[in-house]
Amino acid sequence: MSAPRVAVIGTGRVGLPLALAFIEAGAEVIGVDIDPRVRRIINEERRMPFHEPGFEDAAASGKLRIVERVADAGDVDVFVITVGTPLLHHIETDLSAVTRVIAELSPSLRAGHCVIMRSTTAPRTTRYVRTLLERHSGLGVGTDLALACCPERIVEGKAHEELRSLPQVIGTEDPLSRDAAARLFGLLGVELLHCDYITAELVKLANNVSRYAFFATANVLAMIALDYDAEPHEVLRLGNYRYPRPIGARPGLTAGTCLRKDFGMLSEAYWSSDILIDSWRINESMPKFLVDAAKRRWGPLAGERALVLGYSFKRDTDDVRDSLSAKLLRYLQRECPARLAVHDPWVSASRLEPLHELRFETDLLEALDASSVAFIATNHTVYEEQREAILARVAAGSLRVVDLWNCLGTGHTLIAKDGLR
Ligand SMILES: NC(=O)c1ccc[n+]([C@@H]2O[C@H](COP(=O)([O-])OP(=O)(O)OC[C@H]3O[C@@H](n4cnc5c(N)ncnc54)[C@H](O)[C@@H]3O)[C@@H](O)[C@H]2O)c1
Repeated sequence: MSAPRVAVIGTGRVGLPLALAFIEAGAEVIGVDIDPRVRRIINEERRMPFHEPGFEDAAASGKLRIVERVADAGDVDVFVITVGTPLLHHIETDLSAVTRVIAELSPSLRAGHCVIMRSTTAPRTTRYVRTLLERHSGLGVGTDLALACCPERIVEGKAHEELRSLPQVIGTEDPLSRDAAARLFGLLGVELLHCDYITAELVKLANNVSRYAFFATANVLAMIALDYDAEPHEVLRLGNYRYPRPIGARPGLTAGTCLRKDFGMLSEAYWSSDILIDSWRINESMPKFLVDAAKRRWGPLAGERALVLGYSFKRDTDDVRDSLSAKLLRYLQRECPARLAVHDPWVSASRLEPLHELRFETDLLEALDASSVAFIATNHTVYEEQREAILARVAAGSLRVVDLWNCLGTGHTLIAKDGLR
């Protein structure tokens, strides 16, 4: 049987690696994206528009073409929906991109087509998508059309490896859909885990939300320790030392587009998720807590030259969506306006949220020399590698560092010359 012809609708951080992985697996793939930038970079420049290692050759091969509209995708067998599903300011998923795609897609649908929901959504969304598809197309899911919820569970930066290794959850409610989705993901050679729509939706959210709560536990324990003037990393070190039931998570700034919003999707669907709301509050309060902790230990920051190290939401990525660094910078600006800088080796100045008089530093050592206090917001590898250079400035008394991640390995959160505190 020949490989299915696939249209991937929404070629962003999730859709583009998936489209290229299907191409590498031998499928014929077309991308659909309304963003002219992504179309130009793939169609004309033939390179990745963001950092996702392993796909450079596939992007350069020219085998993927991205069109603007679903109607231009031509003759395909499978439509994979990978558009964004952000959270609105209310606790509610913004499904507008998904419903728009369904409306655009429906006139092209015919018997034998398969639609895959890959975007992360709240429980019961796939049922809703089924209703929309049937209403708009006049076709029946399970009789004419296949529909499956196959959530994406990769971590950014490891898509190439994980698309070929993570078991694929396949939520379907009829044999036609089950077989069609299995045929598609069978191309990637991964284990297939079959279940119904709701289970597939919940697996995705449970994977992310449990991590969010896991980090919140580490963060609240860190805040409690610092409030007692104890060292969170020493608590962790001793608590884990030759103890068979270790404290797993380390504290840090916890956000990013997926973890924060996926908690919202579960909360949207289930009213009594207090522990999730608390996790959100804990993780979101870390930037202000760190500024206050520095003030408590070292006094007012008004005369300081503050530097935030790391702007992307996690280690060694260029993705800035929902990063807590921007929030940290906003709090710091209240303390030391006009003396604020940020450095991130992965991010360009154009990606920064505009903040009055914020300087973007490209040279780390010069930035450290120009600063009196640094907050390590993202635990990028480069900051670990520059440990000695950073600590030399601390030892010389010219710099103090807030290192919630223990990125520098000192075991201290607030690092200054006097006793490394
Ligand atoms: N980023 C991750 O690591 C990750 C991991 C797992 C799951 N997810 C989920 O995958 C989904 C996509 O996330 P993402 O990070 O790739 O988002 P993204 O914003 O990077 O990509 C979405 C793409 O869809 C395009 N788009 C929007 N409306 C469109 C339309 N009507 N037609 C065609 N294209 C359209 C946008 O231009 C954009 O390029 C979300 O539901 C997200 O929660 C993301």
